[in-house]
Amino acid sequence: MAITRDVFSSRFGFILAAAGSAVGLGNIWGFPTQTAGNGGAAFVFMYMVLAFCLAFPAFMAEIIIGRHGQANAVTSLLNVANTNKQKRFAFLVGIVGVVGAGLILSFYAIVAGWMMAYTIEPISHIFFSSETTGWLTDFSLSRNLIFTFIFILLNIWIISKGVSNGIETWSKRLMPLMFILLIILILYVFTLEGAAQGLIAYISPDFSRVFEPSLVLSALGQAFFSLSLGSGVMIVYGSYIPKNTNIVSLGAQVTLIDVGIAFLAGLLIIPAMYVAQAQGVEIFSADGRLLAEDTLVFQVLPSLFNNMGDIGLLVASAFFALMSIAALTSSISMLEGPVSYVVERFNISRVKSALYLGAIIFTMSALIINNFDLLFGFIITLVTKYSQPLVGMCCCIFVGWIWQRNSLLNEIKQGFENAESSMFWKVWPIYTKIICPLAIGAVFLHSIL
Ligand code: PHE
Repeated sequence: MAITRDVFSSRFGFILAAAGSAVGLGNIWGFPTQTAGNGGAAFVFMYMVLAFCLAFPAFMAEIIIGRHGQANAVTSLLNVANTNKQKRFAFLVGIVGVVGAGLILSFYAIVAGWMMAYTIEPISHIFFSSETTGWLTDFSLSRNLIFTFIFILLNIWIISKGVSNGIETWSKRLMPLMFILLIILILYVFTLEGAAQGLIAYISPDFSRVFEPSLVLSALGQAFFSLSLGSGVMIVYGSYIPKNTNIVSLGAQVTLIDVGIAFLAGLLIIPAMYVAQAQGVEIFSADGRLLAEDTLVFQVLPSLFNNMGDIGLLVASAFFALMSIAALTSSISMLEGPVSYVVERFNISRVKSALYLGAIIFTMSALIINNFDLLFGFIITLVTKYSQPLVGMCCCIFVGWIWQRNSLLNEIKQGFENAESSMFWKVWPIYTKIICPLAIGAVFLHSIL
């Protein structure tokens, strides 16, 4: 039985959904933390260069494969392959991507659960006992399990509603809300003492650090994670883009939004750190290194909010709501990757697929929560340092080396008639063929050596 595929109902819908996937904890937590730990503005500068020069071409490769295939990640990759050998390779890459997306969700949901608990905590101060309030921020098994469960349920609920009614509708609701919260928080932080010093550290790069190998590699890794590459997610979202849409300008807009929001998040968090420092919270060690890199948002910022008195409760709640929303619009894309595969491959209804896969992913999260020290860091490393770069690199290889040039050009030309004479067509094929695979390969080698 042929399945009628749901698509994004408008160009705007795709932009918000894809930007929703891209903009997540990676932007609002990962980017500012890495910036603070890697020499401030030097990292921001390198991140911007790499996001546009390397991550954007790889991102285009994924959404074009998807739009051409009009199917889940595995089928779309198979569609580009010609020989049997290539088809086996395509299947392997697709499956690793789909499983990787599920694994990302299994740890992402835990972190998103913390964000939700921290959103409620300031409010619970008003209504509940200090014991309940303490439970929300204490690192307990019950708190972690319950909030991860709630978060995964939210994902199942949105994904089971489908592409236009679920993903698109909720991205359209949540993304503007997230943006407004971000702007309000930035404006507020800039009224506080110490913010100006943070701004200077954020926007004046120390160019002597820009080319430090570890900085360059972290920036590239960050750019790839941030654009949701190497997980099959953007292939699936690409498959929901109507054929009459100019996919190149669409991809460029999503990249701009992703980078723009990361920049704005830095504009909030770096000055907020300096405000906290001005209030006596210790942030840097004597030799200038950032203390508590991973726990920045859970320790440094809450102590800043605490110092603000009553308004601090509101600001804290808004800040963690911002994080939770950003996490949700990203996590739905992680669930959509595996769900679209199961729906199309095994002909199982969307609701059932979302439920089954959600249950499997929650089981995985529970396993991680129960063996936190052993598994949390391990799964993150496995996916973000190994499978994502490799799958991303293979997608570039498919576009650059396997897909026939004419067929590729014809795909881009749909919705973009002048593609052949465009700057994009002059530069991008070389990038996906040579530069992206080499650069991603370098990151991969560096991370395993
Ligand atoms: N891009 C998301 C973020 O920045 C993370 C993500 C990775 C989403 C892979 C989907 C797939 O947080």
